[in-house]
Amino acid sequence: MSKPSEQASRISSINNQTLTELLGQMTLDEKIAQLLQLAVPFYEGAEGDGLITGPMESLGISEETVRNSGSVLGMAGAAETINVQRVHLQNNRLGIPLLMMADIVHGFKTIFPVPLAIGCSWDLELAEQSAVIAAKEASVSGVHVTYAPMVDLVRDPRWGRVMESTGEDPYLNSEFGRAFVRGFQGTDLANDMDRVAACVKHFAAYGAAEGGRDYNTVDMSERQLREFYLPAYKAALDEGCEMVMTSFNTVDGIPATGNSNLMRKLLREEWGFDGILISDWGAVKELIAHGIAADESEAAQKAIQAGVDIEMMTSCYAKHLSELVENKEVDVALIDEAVMRILTLKQKLGLFDNPYRAADPEREKEIVFCDAHREAARELAVKSCVLLKNEDVLPLKRNGKIALIGPFAQSGDLLGPWSWTGSKEDVVQLADAMKSKLNSSAELVVAAGCDFETATEAQWVEALAAAEAADVIVLALGEHSDMSGEAGSRANIQLPEVQLELIRKLEELGKPIAVVLFNGRPLDLHGVYDKVDAILEAWFPGSEGGLAVADLLFGDANPSGRLTMSFPFSVGQIPVYYNAFNTGRPQGAPDAQVKYVSQYLDIPNEPLYPFGYGLSYSLFDYSEAQISSDIMTADQSIKIAVKLTNKGEVAGEETVQLYVRDISGEVVRPLKELKDFRKITLQPGESCEVEFELSESQLRYYHSDLKHYSDAGAFVAYVGPNSKVNTELPFKLTK
Ligand code: GLC
Repeated sequence: MSKPSEQASRISSINNQTLTELLGQMTLDEKIAQLLQLAVPFYEGAEGDGLITGPMESLGISEETVRNSGSVLGMAGAAETINVQRVHLQNNRLGIPLLMMADIVHGFKTIFPVPLAIGCSWDLELAEQSAVIAAKEASVSGVHVTYAPMVDLVRDPRWGRVMESTGEDPYLNSEFGRAFVRGFQGTDLANDMDRVAACVKHFAAYGAAEGGRDYNTVDMSERQLREFYLPAYKAALDEGCEMVMTSFNTVDGIPATGNSNLMRKLLREEWGFDGILISDWGAVKELIAHGIAADESEAAQKAIQAGVDIEMMTSCYAKHLSELVENKEVDVALIDEAVMRILTLKQKLGLFDNPYRAADPEREKEIVFCDAHREAARELAVKSCVLLKNEDVLPLKRNGKIALIGPFAQSGDLLGPWSWTGSKEDVVQLADAMKSKLNSSAELVVAAGCDFETATEAQWVEALAAAEAADVIVLALGEHSDMSGEAGSRANIQLPEVQLELIRKLEELGKPIAVVLFNGRPLDLHGVYDKVDAILEAWFPGSEGGLAVADLLFGDANPSGRLTMSFPFSVGQIPVYYNAFNTGRPQGAPDAQVKYVSQYLDIPNEPLYPFGYGLSYSLFDYSEAQISSDIMTADQSIKIAVKLTNKGEVAGEETVQLYVRDISGEVVRPLKELKDFRKITLQPGESCEVEFELSESQLRYYHSDLKHYSDAGAFVAYVGPNSKVNTELPFKLTK
């Protein structure tokens, strides 16, 4: 084991060399080991006792390989990362430091709302700020790379990972993807120690898994892929995202991780991406189960040929690449280019100068979970909640008796999936938050009423007593965080039956009921929306979620969230999304009593709550929108303006949305497409002019020949509060 002084001299020698020279000094085995990424338990020092503790035999690799590996998965904690890096450098012949990577998706220790909730804020600045804070906390804790943003477009709420996306619109997902990358990376990774490298995922179209069942087949036309599913990944890369993660699913019959069409031809050649492409967990070896590799050797060959640089958590590369090179079945140049990408990111992060980068146990104590960060999380949580229904119940009065009932009344489970570095113990629970807002003129009585999926008679008796004594009932219901997230698909997306039963029983009391929902997906709200007076969608609002919800319940904040994913009327409608195509037949409805139209016999075509929808305590009025001209040319944009007035009694924030419909294209075009939006805050009685500029480039789309351009012809613009806006502003594009 070398001494720190030897280690320091090795590191400094790397600084003087070029990376090419360093590559030239590496043996083939050392190069291949750089492509291996294992989790923390495989690394010495992780447990503090200097021993490698992982089950290496399960992967069929040697201790030597681990000592030469290039990166670690799931590392966090300044002292721990310093220890692992120190021990690693003592054992690595050339002194090449480890890259420390982790899932910092919506916060590190300060947990922000899940990304689907952040999407509903439509607040790109706060989204970026959440990534800035997450990066700062992660970096001082020794993390170099985060596996985020996840920008998979989603249309199927049965899929558990919709909570990780920002929704069903490619433009909005692109804007959020850019904002997250800016926040995580900043503009100078080498010198800005408060940033981390970002890794956009999961490439590509993971959100389109058939049946909403995780890891399932994805199959669509390349045109559909390019029009809807690819834009947000491209936007993240255009913003400078350093890495890409492959998706588990197939794309056009080939698993993404072994798909050279997707990775070499499109990602690397067409888009010019030359950063690191990392497989998802075990996805290289899964090529065997998918059925495009006979064994681990063929899996390694297909993945390296597809351009996958790092194999996460399996050892096909470590065990077989050397032999594949010797047998001339893999060109060593492919390995060299992969290693060079990894060394380049290590250099860009300054790891050859300082392998510990920003890891600092003392500074970590000051920065992580500090008040300023918690305040930012509370602000974003307030903005992420969506008021779905309110019939004169909210905001609550601060007098009389309030009954707070439900499994989320006193729960720390507000962080949601992908919050592994946060702690539920830190969460401000809803009951405590509400109590903190009341004085002696009001009383809050709290009862569970049921658990998430079970109930006892005693719980019911307690809840009934609380409800009978109350003037108003607040129900805190939803899915516990294991009911969504990875491998968290549900075929029935209603609330658990015991919670629906609780609503039915309490509804019989005839008292005003407001429901707060904590959940990771749009739900089928039968048994809720038709039973209660108000519904506030809080998603998983993060560390400060209880306070944020209490702010909204008592009117200390005014709900401003707008849905970025449709709430289906029922699971039978799925997929249901706003930017759908029209049908040749008229779209009907069960009560229309007409046949041979596009309809269900038993449910409406429309979602229960559409994309862009959300209520406020204010009352926003839109004047008739004006269009500057009904003719647009390739170099002459048009302007669309509307006067917005707050006719309510409290200040509020409206998200004014601009949509466009291309009436006739070379291929069918969506009924509406979001093109822009403005967030406008108005005092009671205040008005303002909201103006948009629309240009030809925003009308381009993928034609049947996969070329991306606009057509002359008729269009309609719409400006309003959500995707159901129907005030038409026709114009023509002439060429
Ligand atoms: C998981 C997820 C991916 C995550 C990775 C590392 O399987 O699919 O999003 O970044 O493994 O934890």
